[in-house]
Amino acid sequence: MTPGRPPPRPAPEPAPTADQATEDAMSNATTVSPAHSASTASTLITNIAALVTNDPSLGWGSPRSSKFESGGGSPLGLIQDAAVVIEGDHVVWTGDQSKAPATDNRVDAGGRAVLPGFVDSHSHLVFAGDRTQEFNARMSGRAYSAGGIRTTVAATRAATDAELEAGLTRYLAEALRQGTTTFETKSGYGLTVEDEARALRIAAAHTDEVTYLGAHIVSPDYPDDPAGYVSLVTGEMLDACAPYARWIDVFCEKGAFDGDQARAILMAGKAKGLHPRIHANQLSYGPGVQLAVELDAASADHCTHLTAEDVDALANSRTVATLLPGAEFSTRAEWPNARRLLDAGVTVALSTDCNPGSSFTSSVPFCIALAVRDMRMTPDEAVWSATAGGAAALRREDIGRLTPGACADLILLDAPSHVHLAYRPGVPLVSGVWRRGTRVA
Ligand code: NIG
Ligand code: FE
Repeated sequence: MTPGRPPPRPAPEPAPTADQATEDAMSNATTVSPAHSASTASTLITNIAALVTNDPSLGWGSPRSSKFESGGGSPLGLIQDAAVVIEGDHVVWTGDQSKAPATDNRVDAGGRAVLPGFVDSHSHLVFAGDRTQEFNARMSGRAYSAGGIRTTVAATRAATDAELEAGLTRYLAEALRQGTTTFETKSGYGLTVEDEARALRIAAAHTDEVTYLGAHIVSPDYPDDPAGYVSLVTGEMLDACAPYARWIDVFCEKGAFDGDQARAILMAGKAKGLHPRIHANQLSYGPGVQLAVELDAASADHCTHLTAEDVDALANSRTVATLLPGAEFSTRAEWPNARRLLDAGVTVALSTDCNPGSSFTSSVPFCIALAVRDMRMTPDEAVWSATAGGAAALRREDIGRLTPGACADLILLDAPSHVHLAYRPGVPLVSGVWRRGTRVA
């Protein structure tokens, strides 16, 4: 990770249920000692064929990793025949299994791969309804446009709080089963003061990584007055939303908000203590990436249409480029040029963008497979981007790695190597998930 990032924040996730907490045995792996809940007891997870630590100083070399080759090894810090010790909700030891310390409990990973839980740093999970017909029309040749968001705004406004929360919980459970242990999510389908604030309130009950996106599109209530809507977003709506959010986001795009409007919105959010991230350069070239760098946004998301100047600006900043291949898949759009970004030295994150319009997938493994097959990322790069990259996009140092001091967020794959995430696309390989030291899936 880039040096000089802010210090880690406290663990944000809700506690798992008690019955989950008492279950420590993994399916398809041998638990040698009795089950226990996440407490101060230490647990050794051993017989790991390949362990992804994301600490390059720990691992053996990678065959091809442009950005990190000069560092002499894989970005993943891979250790073979490895073990991890977790104590309470943190990792306390990582290394060669033959050197592992004594622990209270022991779990046999059965020669499988273990990696950090996925960090999905971009999703839109507080919504109602779906857009099956719109997707169907696209697959018959119609183009994607920002206008479809209005369909979800109408359905979301009509939904009860309980319906919105039930939807969120359902998509989170889906994501967790597929290895996501930290997620960010946004408002953006309410577009009134009350509806944006309630979306954020509901989201904040499930994660600390909450983003105010009142500037998703100009509200349908302001058809001829975009400036009036920007005033609302930067005024009364911001006041109502800021208490629930860490981040502020804008969809900077033709048909949504231009560069000047986006700057005004993000600056207002900054003044209220929110930190920027931007939907930038998704559907066309535009000012989003440059604005993200200018404002030290944590992330510029999508980055599908980039000029050489945009790539340079990202490479000389600490703004992460978050690539969202589910969106290109589901809108039949051209792929972002991940190789160009990586070769220029840009920090790249991979996320789902899970939303009912442009990318209705909660699966990080699916995005990894797309990134490798269609965006020319190596499997190592894609796995790094979906773990440490996501953490960088959220300016977090306590997640996305398996080294002493990190949160004990781990995935066990039913495969001997992380490469199988791309090699075996569509196969549910995630066979165990620990979050904050407790097995939750
Ligand atoms: O990230 N681009 C803007 N927002 C979403 C799509 C939202 C929608 O179509 O409902 C995205 O792709
Ligand atoms: Fe998005």
